[in-house]
Amino acid sequence: MSTKTIRWFFPQFGENEKNGVLKVLESNYLNDGEVTRAFEEKVAAFIGCRYCVAVTSGTAAIALSLMALGIGPGDEVIVPDLTFIATANAVRLAGASVKLVDIEPLRFTIDPARVDESIGPQTKAVIAVDVNGRGANYEALEPLCKKHKLALICDSAEALGSKYKGRYLGTYGNAGCFSFSANKTVSSGQGGMIATNDIDVYHRLRELKDQGRRFGGTGGDDLHPVLGFNFKYTNLQAAVALAQLERLSQRISHFQDRDRWYSKALQGCPQVTLPPLDEPGEVRQWTDLLCQNRTELEIAFKQNQIDIRPFWFPLHTQRPYRLPDEGFAHSIHISQEGLWLPSSFELTEEDVGKVSKIIRETLFLL
Ligand SMILES: Cc1ncc(COP(=O)(O)O)c(C=O)c1O
Repeated sequence: MSTKTIRWFFPQFGENEKNGVLKVLESNYLNDGEVTRAFEEKVAAFIGCRYCVAVTSGTAAIALSLMALGIGPGDEVIVPDLTFIATANAVRLAGASVKLVDIEPLRFTIDPARVDESIGPQTKAVIAVDVNGRGANYEALEPLCKKHKLALICDSAEALGSKYKGRYLGTYGNAGCFSFSANKTVSSGQGGMIATNDIDVYHRLRELKDQGRRFGGTGGDDLHPVLGFNFKYTNLQAAVALAQLERLSQRISHFQDRDRWYSKALQGCPQVTLPPLDEPGEVRQWTDLLCQNRTELEIAFKQNQIDIRPFWFPLHTQRPYRLPDEGFAHSIHISQEGLWLPSSFELTEEDVGKVSKIIRETLFLL
């Protein structure tokens, strides 16, 4: 039995993050401000979009995108059945209702054919989720949404730095949303960002995150011409995130190495399916695999101090979104067989060897 726990994932902070936070403390301006603007500009330049707006979380990013596009009570939004529940909860936060559809079995992203047949008179938007850094099928989704005059919002919470068809994720559709929560490539504990090329959406997002004001004010005799709330992202958080951004390319290449190590170590193991690595520039947040004997693997990992994460339950099985199983065959199947293997920034090829050895030994004995 191994002595060291191989952890699933954890954030990593260093001197640059500490120095950045210290500088903000010394400036005595901890609120959403210049450091937040610098972070927004850096992300916009990196992914290649006109505007970025930082907010409190990925959930808020999705909800505010919907609101900025005029979607709310009485409207319906199409959401994939297999995603983190935040995607659907964000729709409810905006006051709209959720229509769940099944996913594609190979990339685990929303199935455009299912979207097409689910569009009804109340449908106003589609949220595509770039599950684990895999881009949804935007070649089909963009024209489909255009044809039916639907907004397309990309939940790219798990996809910062990943590409689909040569373009950074988060730049498709009307708005792309990122998360900076603890298990993401760039983390500030919590936080989110919306990327858009639409100046009207950009202005509306600024108003929504700051009490109806586009560009701040005195806090006293300000005009608040429209409704807005408080979803500000502080200089303190932005200082951490800016330092994290400096490590992004190094982290991306480590993730790509990690996926290659697992592919090599698990080659010729017929009981597991590793989704193909055939999209150039694609970056998986975590290494995932499918296995019919997932329960046996979970027991073996626990005995050997290896942390993993099973996939989410389909949303239609969660109480707020409960529906019969009919129509969700892929999401049910992938949810039952999928798991995320240890994928941290510190994971070594030797760790991957140990994890893969446990997988092989466990499945060989069945
Ligand atoms: C696919 C997906 N959507 C939305 C979110 C919500 O982001 P946050 O936790 O920052 O609200 C997350 C991350 O947690 C996610 O993984």
